Amino acid sequence: MNERWTADRQRWTAVDDYFTTRLLPEAPDLEGVLTASTEAGLPEISVSPAQGKLLNLLARMVGAKSILEIGTLGGYSTIWLARALPADGRLVTLEAEPKHAEVARKNLEKAGVSERVDIRVGQALDTLPGLSGPFDLTFIDADKPNNPGYFRWALEYSRPGSVIVVDNVVRAGAVADPSNTSAAIRGVREVHDLIATEPRVDATALQTVGVKGYDGFTLALVTG
Ligand code: SAH
Ligand code: DHB
Ligand code: MG
Repeated sequence: MNERWTADRQRWTAVDDYFTTRLLPEAPDLEGVLTASTEAGLPEISVSPAQGKLLNLLARMVGAKSILEIGTLGGYSTIWLARALPADGRLVTLEAEPKHAEVARKNLEKAGVSERVDIRVGQALDTLPGLSGPFDLTFIDADKPNNPGYFRWALEYSRPGSVIVVDNVVRAGAVADPSNTSAAIRGVREVHDLIATEPRVDATALQTVGVKGYDGFTLALVTG
């Protein structure tokens, strides 16, 4: 990383800290989830606290009672989402790595949300067909080459009014860099080509900076 990038990153982190201390009093309580995940050897690729709070607020804004997550890791985003649910709400989260699911299970237990969450271990494209929808909100955050397949399933499990959120759609600008033809970036682009031609979905993308660098979310509303 060059000097400019490091300086930007420090500034974005300072701004995230500014907002986190004021707007996310619940975030410190979740630090242990990240520590436990790192200590268990999981990669540090959970959403940031501010992004987790965004997911939590979106779920509450739409009054979500059923949530689907694709890509659990240590359960950090899962907990933010699960805490948005009413007592009778439910969250299904899909994870390919048994070790990640195990770490998540412990984290969910400690966070007091395990009874609302169902972790399905396996390749998401294998576990997706057996779920019972509809889901009010779907968060897509697993292997990026499969994003188009995940988006189709999310749509399948949606009703008018459902929301679909896709993580990591900017990747420091790679999405719009024609020289980047990696499978991950192609997966990101294909979702947007799909949305562009899908009359049942209305969407926008939000570029984000912060402790996780420069990335973004696509936010889609299922309209029909
Ligand atoms: N949503 C998490 C981060 C998820 S990281 C958070 O913000 O806290 C992506 C996760 O997707 C990893 O745990 C990885 O093991 C999982 N994953 C990768 N490929 C997958 C697949 N084909 N099916 C299900 N999960 C997969
Ligand atoms: C990375 C970040 C993510 O949020 C993710 O889902 C996958 C990878 C990363 O920073 O490499
Ligand atoms: Mg992600």
